Amino acid sequence: MNEFTLTINGKEEKVTGVSPTTPLLTFLRQRGGVGTKEGCAEGDCGACTVVVREGEHMQAINSCLVPLASVMSKDLLTVEGVANGDLHPVQQAMIETGGSQCGYCTPGFIMSMVAAQRNSELDDEAIEGNLCRCTGYLPIRRAMEKLAGADVPSESLVNAFPTTTQVSTSYQCGEKRFFRPENLEEVFSLMSEHPDAKLIAGGTDLGVEINKFHREFSTLISLEEVAELKTIDATSSYLELGATTPLTRIEKECKGMFPALDEMLRWFAARQIRNRATLGGNLGTASPIGDLPPVLLALDAELRLSSEKSERTVPVAEFFKGYRQTSLEPGEVIVSVRIPKGLPEGAVERFSQAYKVGKRGADDISIVAAAFTVDVDEAGRVMHSRLAYGGVAATPLRALEAEEVLRGQRWTIQSVQEVKAVLSETFAPIDDLRGSAAYRTRLIQNLFEKFFYEFSGSLEEVAA
Ligand code: FES
Ligand code: FES
Repeated sequence: MNEFTLTINGKEEKVTGVSPTTPLLTFLRQRGGVGTKEGCAEGDCGACTVVVREGEHMQAINSCLVPLASVMSKDLLTVEGVANGDLHPVQQAMIETGGSQCGYCTPGFIMSMVAAQRNSELDDEAIEGNLCRCTGYLPIRRAMEKLAGADVPSESLVNAFPTTTQVSTSYQCGEKRFFRPENLEEVFSLMSEHPDAKLIAGGTDLGVEINKFHREFSTLISLEEVAELKTIDATSSYLELGATTPLTRIEKECKGMFPALDEMLRWFAARQIRNRATLGGNLGTASPIGDLPPVLLALDAELRLSSEKSERTVPVAEFFKGYRQTSLEPGEVIVSVRIPKGLPEGAVERFSQAYKVGKRGADDISIVAAAFTVDVDEAGRVMHSRLAYGGVAATPLRALEAEEVLRGQRWTIQSVQEVKAVLSETFAPIDDLRGSAAYRTRLIQNLFEKFFYEFSGSLEEVAA
């Protein structure tokens, strides 16, 4: 319990005497691996990107957000391990296209691209979490294009990823403990043994608290290796997602099932974050501007909550109790999120979409997020609707009155204008750094109108 091993660039290393919550980035740099850089220390710039092996998959992650003990017994690759004798083709391509000027961001880009090349995912999303302040993105994208046609070097990186021989599930340094159980039974027994323990999964939120707010946690219980929580179960009547299934997996394996979910995942932070972030984490932190709660509200999702002794189901609409407060009882964990499929009786068509408005497209916190579902019958009347918003109140919320006004109305611009009038009075958003209350109120209305136009042909056709 006082030590663990992990593999870094092919060499197994023993870790002892280091706090489990030390950011992986700090640990790497303190042992001399200064190629991995620190930019923002909160998951926004990608300068700290390293690669971790998950089975056959290479995951680019932000090492600034990962507590060291989260990678116990894992296999890591850092920029120092990329060149295997000769330069790696990714490094060569960056040189040939002039993809580096000051070079500060370059190790992070290299790592994202190495992972993307190995996973055959060389697209813009692979580097959307990497910021460059001086080269400009064109040469970097040209490097990506060069690589897209190149062979993946089969021998390179193989040595960097031997399997770590010793698998640890707990680590302690002084008074600080970190547990990484592998099943729910162990989770519950650890929770009753350590009632003050904090749960952690991907750590993309907690990592910021550790880095930026210097929060201390004496006991952390990591849920990321709990088999029962990493599931995806799709049937004809529902999709059930395990609470700690990384968002990247949901993005890939559930594509096409719910357009609003696909759309919001596209704008959820960036690749490195989605490789770690989880649905349970996004719900459990109860942020008023979490990206996924509006989508889950609009899709009438339910949460399965479990404790040692009982299990219950709570609609997402009843889960949030106040600013950063949920209906989770002590000893309970979010096990999964179930999204129903299919239309209500009598409905013949569903319109559903999500929108996120932020200062920039990717890798940003929203000013307002919205997700809508409208089901219409054969006569074009609204049978059922869900209008959900984030960033407009202390919790993500549905616009219940507007839904009521819409019920039974024809899906026309006149109905939408009526609903917009109701929406203008429904919420009392605040002014903050990201946007004014007045701007948010306009967004609340206009996003719904945008949704209407998206599902009603062109503006001219509707007006006619
Ligand atoms: Fe910026 Fe880690 S240092 S994402
Ligand atoms: Fe200078 Fe990218 S090369 S920040």
